[in-house]
Amino acid sequence: MGSRLKIIIPQRELKRKVKELAARISQDYRDKNPVLVGILKGSFVFMADLVREMKIPHQVDFIAVASYGAHMHASGVVRWLKDLGTNIEGRDVVIVEDIIDSGLTLDYIRKNLLTRSPNTLKIVTLLDKKKKRSVRIPLKYVGFSIPDRFVVGYGLDYDENYRNLPYIAELEDQTDSLR
Ligand code: IMP
Ligand code: MG
Repeated sequence: MGSRLKIIIPQRELKRKVKELAARISQDYRDKNPVLVGILKGSFVFMADLVREMKIPHQVDFIAVASYGAHMHASGVVRWLKDLGTNIEGRDVVIVEDIIDSGLTLDYIRKNLLTRSPNTLKIVTLLDKKKKRSVRIPLKYVGFSIPDRFVVGYGLDYDENYRNLPYIAELEDQTDSLR
């Protein structure tokens, strides 16, 4: 299968947006000492850039899950691969996600974390594919709303590739095109 990359969010726009999100979070959580929880693997690049723009004390931790489903679609069935090392009871938690599509993966994680009695639990996502949402999830901070296209780069993968790209690109399938 041939495929090509079309940049939809260039590096400088990502940088500007991440800075803006970090400023908002730093403002909202001043004096709160929040825990930022990254969802691996996709969020690792966003998380690394976000925390380096944060102006307040905070900690980081990670959760790793595998969402079952064919290459490009999540099924909502989630396998827990790595849990938090932090006790989040009474803490102000901010989940850091790369992209929300159907929302099934994050809904599952969110409900699980809520059973641990955090003081507050909010979500920051870099990308939001609103059109595909099948469950209602409250999103506190959204970087970009994007159309229902498969994207890679800045942590996001297709079959574990392209995570290193410094921009967000649409992966265009060329099987039925002669370009
Ligand atoms: P959801 O459960 O349908 O919201 O799927 C969420 C997960 O699917 C994300 O955390 C990503 O790992 C993956 N995903 C969804 N859309 C894309 C995409 O366009 N590119 C790469 N991964 C995606
Ligand atoms: Mg993925």
